[in-house]
This record gives sequence, structure tokens and C-alpha cells, in this order.
Amino acid sequence: MIIETFVLTPFQQNTRVVACEHTRKAICIDPGEPAQEIGEYIRGNDLDLQAIVITHGHLDHCGGTSALKLEFPDAEILLHRDEMYLYEKLTQQPLLMGIQPEQARAIGMDYEDPPEPSRFLEDGEVLEVGELRFVVRHVPGHTLGHIVLAEQNEKAVFTGDCLFSGTIGRTDLPGGNYDQLIASIKEKVLTMGDDYTVFCGHGPETTIGRERVSNPFLTGVYRLS
Ligand SMILES: [Fe+2]
Repeated sequence: MIIETFVLTPFQQNTRVVACEHTRKAICIDPGEPAQEIGEYIRGNDLDLQAIVITHGHLDHCGGTSALKLEFPDAEILLHRDEMYLYEKLTQQPLLMGIQPEQARAIGMDYEDPPEPSRFLEDGEVLEVGELRFVVRHVPGHTLGHIVLAEQNEKAVFTGDCLFSGTIGRTDLPGGNYDQLIASIKEKVLTMGDDYTVFCGHGPETTIGRERVSNPFLTGVYRLS
């Protein structure tokens, strides 16, 4: 499996291109903003972009969808149905987060409406990308329709803003729910196995095993209510 990470947006979001090294089929997980380097990497490495997969609809995870779709019109746009409340409102998100229009323009967050999804991903669905098989898990809590993608042979899980190294996603934005997020992580992510590498939406990689024993939100050291 090929994984290339691009740290984008003022939020330092990890946009990733993930590809099957045998068939060159690829997906882009969470294109955070329009960035020439994504397309250059895809073409430069002879990859075939099959889909743009959006873990959740926050601006720093899908702000680059329009531009990437324009560059690769055959790529599908895939996300969970329950995430449309954010994805459809991309243009309004900066203001909802307290970023004024002028400031949004200055930092490249003056969006246009994002392209229609090609179809919706379901919990338990398997997304085939060449020889890679990504199991989709619906993990509400950070947002309503957040998903993670797990490749079982490669033992890799892409967690968006659900689980980070040493912390978890924030739950104070619309659709967030702390108890639901903890339940999602414990039931849908930790159960994958300690040997999985966790590729987070922000910050460094970790493993499920490490988070299980040391993440203070999962061990019970921190408790928000
Ligand atoms: Fe987020």
C-alpha cells in the first residue's frame, strides 16, 4: 500500500493519497484544500484516482474536493449520508467557526458549493481499491456521519478526526456528542486490533494498542460530561 500525506490548511490537516502498489488504483482521503501537489503526486506516480473519500464534512477535510474533482472528473465522491448537513453547508462553515469573510478569503477558505456526492458509503461496506479492501465504519461523535476506513491486510486505519495520537476529536461543534464518540471509538475502532497503525486527520500516526493503554480519554483518566 502506498500512502502519501500532505499537511494542508491552517488547521494542519493530513490529506492522504492511498494507493494499491500493484494496480496503481488510488483514493484521496480528505482533500483539505485545493493543492497542486496532490494532482502532481497522482500523475507523477502514475496513479489512477478512483475516488475522493471524505471522512467527515468539516472544511479542513473537504475544502479541496471541488478542485480535485475538476482535475480528476472520473473520481467518485464518497461520504456517509449523515454527513450531508456539513458537506452541503461548506460555504457557511467559516462563519459558523467564527472566521469572518475577509479573513476566510485571506486564508483560502472562501468556498464554492462542493460537487454532489457520487453515492453514499454505508457502515460495514467494503470499498475496493485495486487489491486493497477498505472496510467502512460509521463512527458518529465528532460529527453525525463521520466514517473511518480500515484496510485489514495492511492493518491500517484512517481515522479522520475521530481518534488522534493521545487525544480524540472535539465534540463541541454541531452534531458532536462526547459519549457517542467514546462509544464509537471503543466499539468500532479499538476492536480492530492493537497492531493496526492509526493514520489520524491531524498530527502523527499512532497504533490502536498504544491508544488503548495510554489515551487518557479511553483509559478513563480524563472524563468530560
Ligand atoms: Fe473535524
